This record gives sequence, structure tokens and C-alpha cells, in this order.
Amino acid sequence: MLENPVKIAVLVSGGGTNLQALIDAQNSGIIKSGKIELVIANNANAFALERAANAGIKTAVVLKKELGSAEAFEQKIKDLLSENGIEIIVLAGFMAILSENFTKDYPKRIINVHPALIPSFCGKGFYGLHVHEAALAYGVKVTGATVHFVNEIPDGGEIIMQKAVNIRENDTPETLQKRVMRQAEWKILPLSVEKVCAKLISE
Ligand code: GAR
Repeated sequence: MLENPVKIAVLVSGGGTNLQALIDAQNSGIIKSGKIELVIANNANAFALERAANAGIKTAVVLKKELGSAEAFEQKIKDLLSENGIEIIVLAGFMAILSENFTKDYPKRIINVHPALIPSFCGKGFYGLHVHEAALAYGVKVTGATVHFVNEIPDGGEIIMQKAVNIRENDTPETLQKRVMRQAEWKILPLSVEKVCAKLISE
């Protein structure tokens, strides 16, 4: 770990295997230019919260239905980010689309992992298992994962890294999802986070 690592917040909604990959990469030194300071979930039951707590990382839960509007939800997240001095935001299985009002405040500071090779199987409605269902229904032979910056276009920001994964004849959405995670997402997300943090430090 560098002396003044970039402060990272990870936004999650579910199981948090990508968060776990980031925690593991931090512990093994793959991520050395940044440090996860805060995990924010938009679902109180997200297992990702337990992963964060086990790693001694501060957590927060922000619920849209409690706050009453999308604006109040995004403002609450912004407040938490600024209170904690966060410099980089990683969306790791965060199943909410952030509005332009939010993304414009963090240009090239929000990173997302998407479980397909963008521009295939991406945009509104393509999230989680649906992405793999769509890839299998189309009949593509290669899919993968993409890490990209987030802007106002869902899955439309500049690509940072991609990794391809072969589809097998007997794949189900579930088997494909697992292989895309293991072979692609859990590798390129930590590498991308380190790349972005290292660049910020060098600037
Ligand atoms: C991951 O496959 C991630 O790429 C995907 O949801 C899963 C979350 O798993 N994200 C999206 O589809 C966003 N559009 P995790 O909670 O175990 O990291």
C-alpha cells in the first residue's frame, strides 16, 4: 500500500463477489494505489455488507424507498462520499442506474463492471443473469466482461479493460455467469481499479 492511497467507495446490491475480489486484491497487493474506505449498499440484506464488515470496512445502507425519491437517494450517497473523502467510486454489482445529475459530478471517477463485452448485451435492462440469458439466446460463442467509466449513458462510458470468455454448448445462464465472473470480472475489475488509482496518484 502506498502512503496516501486513493480513497475508494464500492457500491453494491447483492452477493458482493466482485467486492470480495477487490478486498482480496487489496490484501495481496494487486491493488496498492487505492484503499477501500467505504461500502454502500442499496439493499439492507446484501451479503456484500457482511463481506465488508468481515474485512473491517465501514458500511452504509441507503434505501430509495426510505428516502422517497431518486434525487434524495443520490444526494444521500453524495453526502456519504464527501464525508468520507472518497475519490473513486466502484460499482460492483450495483443494480441502480445513477442519473446524469450524479455522474456529472464524478467524471472518470466512477468505474463499473459489466458481465458482457460492451457494446453487446448492455444498456437498460441488461443486468445480472439477464445479460447471460440474452447472450445464450442470441447464440454468441464468445462473451466476457467489461470494466468502464460511468457517464450519463448506461454502460456507455469509456472502456478501461475487457476479457473474453468462451461459451460452452451446455451452458446455462447460471454456469455462464459463474465462469464470466471467475475468468473475467474478478480479474479485470481489481486490475482496472489499480490502473485508475495509479494514474490519479501520478497526476
Ligand atoms: C456481476 O456479474 C456484475 O458484473 C453484474 O452483477 C453481478 C454482481 O455480482 N453487474 C451488472 O449486471 C451491472 N449492470 P456480485 O454482487 O457477486 O459482484
